[in-house]
Amino acid sequence: MGRVEGKIILLTGGAMGLGEAAAKRLIAEGARVIITDHNVEAGQKTALALGENAEFLEQDVTAPGRWTEIIAEVEQRHGRLDVLVNNAAVTVYGSIADVSYEDFKRCFTVDVDSIFLGCKSALPLMSKTGGSIINFSSAAAISATADLVAYNAAKAAIPMMTKSIALHCAREKNGVRVNAVLPGAILTPNVQSVADASSDPDALLQQFALAQPVGHMGEPDDIAHLVVYLASDESKFATGASFAVDGGLSI
Ligand SMILES: NC(=O)c1ccc[n+]([C@@H]2O[C@H](COP(=O)([O-])OP(=O)(O)OC[C@H]3O[C@@H](n4cnc5c(N)ncnc54)[C@H](O)[C@@H]3O)[C@@H](O)[C@H]2O)c1
Repeated sequence: MGRVEGKIILLTGGAMGLGEAAAKRLIAEGARVIITDHNVEAGQKTALALGENAEFLEQDVTAPGRWTEIIAEVEQRHGRLDVLVNNAAVTVYGSIADVSYEDFKRCFTVDVDSIFLGCKSALPLMSKTGGSIINFSSAAAISATADLVAYNAAKAAIPMMTKSIALHCAREKNGVRVNAVLPGAILTPNVQSVADASSDPDALLQQFALAQPVGHMGEPDDIAHLVVYLASDESKFATGASFAVDGGLSI
């Protein structure tokens, strides 16, 4: 208990899935977590369920102006920001033959541009006290699939952007460390809905499970525990690194 005691944490896409699970663990370890999401109904419901140390702010992570407002709001309410978790993303399915240019660009805007905007907006405030930025990539950054051309490319951009921002922070000696998280297939509402939309949901879930050498999918807490480590001072010497927790998928 208390591994992130008193830390002010901003976490995008916290309404459900891995973001919700991470918020729950962070709060259990003593943090105050501001979750944001463009799904207002689900975000408010989740924040309510997470209790008095959770707050909710509506945010489309692709909107630069909203990032400015959110950081100003956090500074006004709490005076500082210790941790930024860039978790929100979309998965765009399809091969080079199937995916439209619009959908390819949408994947990059939500998954990559949002992290650029988040880091750029938060760093002036975070630099005052030091802290930790956690960028969600995926095992799909390393292990490609014919039907994930946009997501593979977008998620692969994140570890490299993370390295560059980490080097900038190290050069500035601002005390901010920046790392990437690469989950394997984890059963979240998003993954379940993809399966439900297929002709044979059980077969697709089985396929996801077998893609990992360990033969099964992970649980949201498998990633939440990593987020707690990266948010805590236990990870104070880690920066620019990519942490794969993926049942061996990216080996
Ligand atoms: N679940 C997995 O198997 C898996 C595997 C590898 C990586 N990841 C990554 O982990 C992160 C979380 O995944 P998840 O499965 O929990 O996803 P999810 O779809 O269940 O949750 C994502 C959340 O982000 C929100 N969101 C989407 N677009 C947004 C936008 N423009 N602005 C604000 N919020 C927005 C959604 O409303 C949702 O609450 C993502 O970055 C994902 O790419 C997930």
